[in-house]
Amino acid sequence: MRHLINITDLSVAEIEELIATAQDIIQNGKKYAEVCKGKKIATLFFEPSTRTRLSFEAAMLELGGSVIGFSSAESSSAAKGETVTDTVRTVACYADIIAMRHPKEGAPLAASKVSPVPIINAGDGGHNHPTQTLADLFTIYREKGRLENFTIGFCGDLKFGRTVHSLITALSRYRNINFIFISPEELRIPDYIKEDTLWKNKLPYIEVERLEDVMPQLDILYMTRVQKERFFNEADYVRLKDSYILEPSKLANAKKDLSVLHPLPRVNEISHLVDSDPRACYFKQVLNGKYMRMALILKLLNLEVDS
Ligand code: NCD
Repeated sequence: MRHLINITDLSVAEIEELIATAQDIIQNGKKYAEVCKGKKIATLFFEPSTRTRLSFEAAMLELGGSVIGFSSAESSSAAKGETVTDTVRTVACYADIIAMRHPKEGAPLAASKVSPVPIINAGDGGHNHPTQTLADLFTIYREKGRLENFTIGFCGDLKFGRTVHSLITALSRYRNINFIFISPEELRIPDYIKEDTLWKNKLPYIEVERLEDVMPQLDILYMTRVQKERFFNEADYVRLKDSYILEPSKLANAKKDLSVLHPLPRVNEISHLVDSDPRACYFKQVLNGKYMRMALILKLLNLEVDS
């Protein structure tokens, strides 16, 4: 039995397979309409979510399966003091696969140790978010036609942004990627990402504070929200929240084929005026996430369709 806790739980070859399945789903959706008949996914969300939870649910429904779950800790027995592991042992009696989001780093890993069904990490605190990374990789692949040879700028809250951590880790396994990290001093990527991923693999990167200075170099710009819920101090959040606001004028010296990604939700960091720019890919990214989650569910449940 397989879980997805970190993006490296999938090999590069397996990610390629998921991309191929997602592409086939896009082209031949009907073929997949009943493949999960009789299967249930449980979405256990101890933290707010729109896209991740609903895309798992939409993914399972489009595969012919069904869905159970909760969307806040308050509406589950966590509010009475139940442990995550007891909750998971219970839900595994009802569901074939579980997607879990939790504010505590490592909660899905702890769940996977006791679970008799596959656990998918749908975001654990400020740590990892591997299925957003699947959406991001598929988006890059569809936009650029490759997962190597590009310069990517990560901009915003690189300290608490779990999607950033998982995507850097994923990209460390592809060739010739230049990383540019754009953030205020206080929100730089954590040392453990530098040590375990960037330094260990001798990957080229720079850290800067001004987006304008590096814009012309970028093939991909990955914008992020300042993660309000992870700050200890409201004043720090207020001071940092509007560090970067992407407006049409800031794209003036960007490449014509730049792709702007954002895991969403956005707050102020991308002006709505950018949405109509053909370089804005964040809503395509949402849709790509659903297809990759469909492919992932099939893989973890060991289900195949006749080709
Ligand atoms: C992200 C998350 O939850 O980490 N959202 C998502 O799943 N698409 C990003 C964020 O909340 O800023």
